[in-house]
Amino acid sequence: MSNTQQNQEAHTEEHHSPIKTPKQLIVTILLSFIVPILIIILLVNLVAAGNQVGAGSDTLGPEATAKRIAPVAKLELVDASGPKVFKSGEQVYKAVCAGCHTAGVAGAPKFGDPASWAAAAKTGLNAMVANAIKGKNAMPAKGGNPALDDFEITRAVVYMANNSGSKFDEPVEPAPAAPSK
Ligand code: HEC
Repeated sequence: MSNTQQNQEAHTEEHHSPIKTPKQLIVTILLSFIVPILIIILLVNLVAAGNQVGAGSDTLGPEATAKRIAPVAKLELVDASGPKVFKSGEQVYKAVCAGCHTAGVAGAPKFGDPASWAAAAKTGLNAMVANAIKGKNAMPAKGGNPALDDFEITRAVVYMANNSGSKFDEPVEPAPAAPSK
């Protein structure tokens, strides 16, 4: 600090300091704590105000929020009391079975390759479906998706087999009144 500056400050304190009594000093110290806190509170309110939306808007409602933060891959939950809507064989295949059966992972019969399906196809649809439902060697039960209905598994098996040289009949949908498993 240069001499000139020091002189200036000494000068300022002597003649211009607004704090002249101990009471003023205490007030000044208190204010120096309270004012920043007030500013922080105001800033927090300002930020929180960003979350406020007009009446009637539901952009921040629990549903809209859940939608926005929903995982990209999701399991669709269907009202269990309503009539069950079965996925098609193709839907099940693409969602669950394709992971292994498209490339023939771990010895899985390959989609569209009759030779790899021939052995299983010979045992008949029922045997194949039974294996698909309870699992077989590296093949997990229901392809690892226990929420699938047996009927959906049957459809997927028929879909895969019929695209791989077999000619099984499309399975008939169980009566809608049947209680879902
Ligand atoms: C994690 C990998 C994997 C997934 C996912 C998978 N599979 Fe498989 N699957 C296999 C393998 C491995 C085999 C061969 C099992 C064996 O014969 O040793 C197989 C065999 C099969 C067979 C033949 C069974 C038999 O009788 O020989 C059927 C039918 C079948 N899978 C259906 C399905 C269906 C339907 C799905 C989807 C819902 C599915 N798989 C999902 C790996 C998988």
